[in-house]
Amino acid sequence: MAGEAFRFHFAHSDEEEDDTKRDSPVQSIPERPAVVLPVTNKELEKMARQTESEVTSTEFCNKDVCIRHVESASAQADIQVLDASRESDSEDKESDCARAISQHSDLIPGVYEGGLKVWECSHDLVDYMHSHKFLLEDKRVLEVGCGAALPGLYALLMGAKAVDFQDYNEEVLRHVTVPNVAANMLNAFKMRERRQLRCRRHSPRRPNSDSTARVRLADAAKAVSAGFFAGDWGKLEEVFSERISSGHGNLYDVIVTSETIYREDTHRKLLSLIKCCLSPSGVVLLAAKSHYFGVGGSVRSFEKAIEDDASLQCKVVSKYSGSGVTRMIIELRWTAVK
Ligand SMILES: C[S@@+](CC[C@H](N)C(=O)[O-])C[C@H]1O[C@@H](n2cnc3c(N)ncnc32)[C@H](O)[C@@H]1O
Repeated sequence: MAGEAFRFHFAHSDEEEDDTKRDSPVQSIPERPAVVLPVTNKELEKMARQTESEVTSTEFCNKDVCIRHVESASAQADIQVLDASRESDSEDKESDCARAISQHSDLIPGVYEGGLKVWECSHDLVDYMHSHKFLLEDKRVLEVGCGAALPGLYALLMGAKAVDFQDYNEEVLRHVTVPNVAANMLNAFKMRERRQLRCRRHSPRRPNSDSTARVRLADAAKAVSAGFFAGDWGKLEEVFSERISSGHGNLYDVIVTSETIYREDTHRKLLSLIKCCLSPSGVVLLAAKSHYFGVGGSVRSFEKAIEDDASLQCKVVSKYSGSGVTRMIIELRWTAVK
């Protein structure tokens, strides 16, 4: 599916509203509790078999790399079917994502934050990393506000040691992100094998028979290291810092994030989460529109939050100007090596 331009369809949008009101500060949203999804290798393997026969699209296909992802429409249909069956045997209200789907909404603040679709800037981020040969091999990577997670999937394919994925909505992780990881892990495994083979060819040792053995999905599932975190950035910071201080988690070498700065009132907690998770020599690549009409966030306001905080420095490393709003890639690093 092609990335979609950023234009939120609000659940309660007021078409009559004038432009001055549209950029007024939005109501702050409640913080959704953090949940770590326990996804086992077996589950990934099972899901990979399912996604083989399901409708998937490919993105960024060239001779080196091709990212697979489930169709947004098919994930939405699954959510609706599941929701309908749940409603028939319980009193539960509609699930958050089912509500957004039935209201044709791209954003219901504090309920659904847009992760079911592939957004435009996520393509920019993948293009940027690829064209700049951004080093991902053996890196620990976190994708913040991942949704379909094209940048995180790209990192997986390019040999990242571990990739963790975060989205506001657990349903997005279950129906989009996790199946997307499953759909790409076999290729990630094969690409790693090929890289190792190339390295061995350059060394005096000949490749052993294992490296030419037929790759199996079970091996790929065992090899993949991916974690899935749902919830609000404010709550997730506690989870990440607890994991890091207890030795169950590591700081990240690379943090990628796309289309996540559309609300000014969440900039501080996004920054705080980044600061909690970024390794001393780590780098953040953030892809965003210069301005988000209707919700008020902008690159400028995010830069201002960084300047106010002063512990990180940022620079615009790429710009994409076409017919619509300018899109940018911003790189963030620690101001002084910690
Ligand atoms: C517009 S979607 C972008 C999805 C994806 N990165 C892309 O570019 O296709 C914004 C994402 O930001 C995340 N997000 C926004 N506000 C958040 C918050 N307060 N806490 C946690 N995640 C949030 C949601 O997970 C959501 O998937």
